[in-house]
Amino acid sequence: MSLTNFPSDARLAQPGDSLPKVTMPALSEMKRQGKPISALTAYDYATARLVDEAGVDLILVGDSLAQVVLGHENTLAVTVDEMIHHTRAVRRAVRRALVVADMPFGSYHGTVAEGLANAIRFVKEAGAEAVKIEGPRVELVRALTDAEIPVVGHLGLTPQSVHRMGGYRVQARTSETARQLQADALALAEAGAGALVLEGVPREAAAEITAALPIPTIGIGAGPDCDGQILVFHDLVNLTFAPAAKFVRRYADASALFRSAIEHYREDVEHRAFPSDAESYHLPKAARPVPGTGAKPDFDAAGAIVNRDTFEDRAG
Ligand code: KIV
Repeated sequence: MSLTNFPSDARLAQPGDSLPKVTMPALSEMKRQGKPISALTAYDYATARLVDEAGVDLILVGDSLAQVVLGHENTLAVTVDEMIHHTRAVRRAVRRALVVADMPFGSYHGTVAEGLANAIRFVKEAGAEAVKIEGPRVELVRALTDAEIPVVGHLGLTPQSVHRMGGYRVQARTSETARQLQADALALAEAGAGALVLEGVPREAAAEITAALPIPTIGIGAGPDCDGQILVFHDLVNLTFAPAAKFVRRYADASALFRSAIEHYREDVEHRAFPSDAESYHLPKAARPVPGTGAKPDFDAAGAIVNRDTFEDRAG
């Protein structure tokens, strides 16, 4: 079965399903029309469905999953196989958004041929519709574009360069580095990149690049003048167990919500308040012992067998 086919029982139709599929050329058209592009990360089926059904245009299976899902200190440890595993789950959930897979550290830092081979894996094995790579890797972007793989560039604060940068620092703060950033952005666009993530740069630098570039910029910590915005899902809903960066806006407190639900559940189990009788399966009435008689249930009574495979007995 093709990865881009959806089994009929995979999910029920949603109101947004009739909207046209977002493609890389569609993002450029949005820039041309001045329509802001919404983007968010997702790493699994459930969150990807929520993000897609909310009408977000681009879903990035970010290598930030190394930190927010797998608990690593930075993004460097996540592997191609892990990223493919998560991209496949996201791809199964998404009908409308453009699905972009982040190529992890080490998967494109050797030869162009190695980078190309790994990118092809994301398209073939995971159903990615584009890949994202960090840094001004113009030759690789050209090779991917020649191989029909849409590319999202990523410049500014590039987390895979954390050791070279000496930490997560705002980039392009001097006229020289801002000029270099703009030159890199133009070179990536010229090489065929379809969009560019700008992370951790002054608003003014991002605004100049956005105005100069023929392709959309998608900002994170780059101010409101980019063509679109992206956030990490776990930042958006407070699931990071860490103080938020300046550019993060928390739209919900999932930590508080989940913590309270989990504590409530534990208390109910400890007080034998869960499950209730109504939440239990039963033998048919004829097979149940009469309460207070000390009799045992008659498991062999006609029709007493509960269908364990389909749980058809939900109401019994
Ligand atoms: O991995 C990621 O989540 C990202 C975004 C922050 C752009 O690269």
